[in-house]
Amino acid sequence: MSSSKNSAPSSPTRLSRRTVLGHIAVAAGALAMAKQRAVAQALQASGLAQAFRKDFRVGVAVSNQTLDQQIAPDLDLIAREFNSVTGENAMKWGVIRPDGFTWQWERADRLVDFARKHRMDLLGHTLVWHSQIPASVFVDADRKPLTRDALLARMREHIDTLVGRYKGRAWAWDVVNEAVDEDKGWRHSPWHDIIGDDFMEQAFRFAHAADPKARLLYNDYNMHNPGKLAFLANVLKDYKSRGVPIHGVGNQSHVGLTYPDLGQWERSIATYADMGLKVHITELDVDVLPPPANTGADVANNAAYSRQIDPWPDGLPDAVQEQLADRYETLFRILLRYRRSVERVTFWGLHDGVSWKNNFPVRGRTNYPLLFDRQMRPKPAYQRLMKLAGGKR
Ligand code: XIL
Repeated sequence: MSSSKNSAPSSPTRLSRRTVLGHIAVAAGALAMAKQRAVAQALQASGLAQAFRKDFRVGVAVSNQTLDQQIAPDLDLIAREFNSVTGENAMKWGVIRPDGFTWQWERADRLVDFARKHRMDLLGHTLVWHSQIPASVFVDADRKPLTRDALLARMREHIDTLVGRYKGRAWAWDVVNEAVDEDKGWRHSPWHDIIGDDFMEQAFRFAHAADPKARLLYNDYNMHNPGKLAFLANVLKDYKSRGVPIHGVGNQSHVGLTYPDLGQWERSIATYADMGLKVHITELDVDVLPPPANTGADVANNAAYSRQIDPWPDGLPDAVQEQLADRYETLFRILLRYRRSVERVTFWGLHDGVSWKNNFPVRGRTNYPLLFDRQMRPKPAYQRLMKLAGGKR
């Protein structure tokens, strides 16, 4: 017997009470979602991201603490000021798989849900890095170093699982982080030394297979270093000519008041833009303290504390506050000139009180690298950027 008669839609007059209630519930749900979206948009209508909406996305790194404790004032400020988020630590191998293998999704899931709720773009950070990763990843059950094939399989499984879980929800991924050792070429790391020069290419291929629509980035610090730039530009040209799926570079931009040379910084942005790559400023902060000998961002380095290099434990003098505002304005003026290629600018932390720069490259200093102070009030640098966004360029 044909079932067409039985499955024909019932006429409106014959809708059961249950169906009607069902429709009402769906409509109410849609209304609640629309209301939530409107509130999110209204919140965003006032902030930094809104001010630069025609130029690039403005993002922030969200700390584990904010995610774990769901700190409401932090989350509210993030929702108001930014339209993209990166987990400061939440998705790193050693954080999401503390023993190297077992997944702990809760924190990263919270970040992804927060981004979706507030219609923000989500940045995945990071898939292949030598740091914040347990040594167990690189050895077999007998603690012997893995073979190339075994490590490639582990890399693929990690990328498939993580990128796969957030497929369609992560806008972009920092696929490989910090693979270049200043002007010496490939950095020595278990990834490089076990797999070989093509470990980076393989990571991009795996990530693309796991989510073909996600933007894939190579991310590094000291991108202004001419030696690093020359080496990387060569690698990326070769990738483009062979169709390795890479869409852009992440320039971390952990800068200071007087370094790097912004001519070099701009040259690096221009070089990648000219190659047709997108540029993301992924971890912006401006260290205002006197630098010890090492000024890079290699998280393995830490210099000794002395009071001399921690001059302002009780507050930033106005003159330095002004220098910070000047520096941010100069950086953003450059970025605005490249806004066709610069897709996003992300600050590495929400406010001065939680910045990693209080502990790097020297532990226990009082630093002031961000746009919001320790009471989460906007600083003069914030006002300066808002003025720049609103003014004639
Ligand atoms: C830093 C975090 O901010 C710290 O909380 C953590 O202890 C160490 O890592 N380059 C990167 C980031 O790509 O992941 C680093 O973040 C800073 C340097």
